[in-house]
Amino acid sequence: MTSLQRLMDSDHSIDPSHLYEQVQFPDPPPDRPYCYINMCSSIDGKIVIGKPTGSAAGLGSATDQMLFRRLQLHCDAAMIGSSTLRASQVHYPEKIQRYVVTHSGNIPSDNRFFTEAPDRAFVIAPTGSKTQIQVQRSSLMYLYCGEQSVDLVEAMRMLRQEQGVKHLLCEGGGTLNEQMIKLGLVDELFLTIASKLKGGASLPTIMGGQGFPEGEFATANLVSIYRDDSELYLRYKINPASNELINS
Ligand SMILES: NC(=O)c1ccc[n+]([C@@H]2O[C@H](COP(=O)([O-])OP(=O)(O)OC[C@H]3O[C@@H](n4cnc5c(N)ncnc54)[C@H](OP(=O)(O)O)[C@@H]3O)[C@@H](O)[C@H]2O)c1
Repeated sequence: MTSLQRLMDSDHSIDPSHLYEQVQFPDPPPDRPYCYINMCSSIDGKIVIGKPTGSAAGLGSATDQMLFRRLQLHCDAAMIGSSTLRASQVHYPEKIQRYVVTHSGNIPSDNRFFTEAPDRAFVIAPTGSKTQIQVQRSSLMYLYCGEQSVDLVEAMRMLRQEQGVKHLLCEGGGTLNEQMIKLGLVDELFLTIASKLKGGASLPTIMGGQGFPEGEFATANLVSIYRDDSELYLRYKINPASNELINS
């Protein structure tokens, strides 16, 4: 048996304003961006504290919000699922490209996601919904891949090889995260555990969908852990072995 480490005995403390300031990521593989997810959950795993499709506002502390903004500075593009876009106004640093994944084409084009960077905001949609979406939102820019749903492996290839994205921040929600992780497209997970207990079987968690098949799962290695009062900030490396688990 390995020895246990009582983490709170550590006397190493840093100013929160410096956490994740110097984050560096490896070069990306040739066929996809290096991808990191950033999420905040309650102690019991919920990613909203209001209604199931509402914004995540109020879950994390001011420190979590600061780190959320800081992690946006280390990517050249960010990606979200359309439910996350519909839940609130989405703001990014000016320079980064932003992508939203949808099938329905129910995309609020007046969201800051688009209005703050109309030349850097893209909708990723399957060809099966092409006509419907084009008619609805002809002013938006689209990337098409997959027929009935977005083929995320192909989408990542397009981002890397055609859009020049090296480091991609995926900001959820749980539906998009689950597919990205199952497909082995995610390298790291930054996770804030807010010191709240919410409950409720219908509220989303950091990975939704069907999950891995029975008996399969991805594993992750803890890279770092910090706390501010009772809120925790975890950084995990997602193991490439998750691919082998899927394929075995
Ligand atoms: N606490 C946090 O850190 C955090 C972070 C992010 C989000 N959230 C919360 O999470 C909730 C949203 O999460 P969610 O899991 O319900 O949804 P989500 O992952 O944000 O978006 C799901 C939607 O994305 C589209 N989509 C995903 N994969 C697709 C694919 N392969 N092909 C085509 N379309 C695809 C579909 O859009 P269409 O419906 O348009 O077809 C789907 O309904 C919101 O309440 C949000 O506030 C919390």
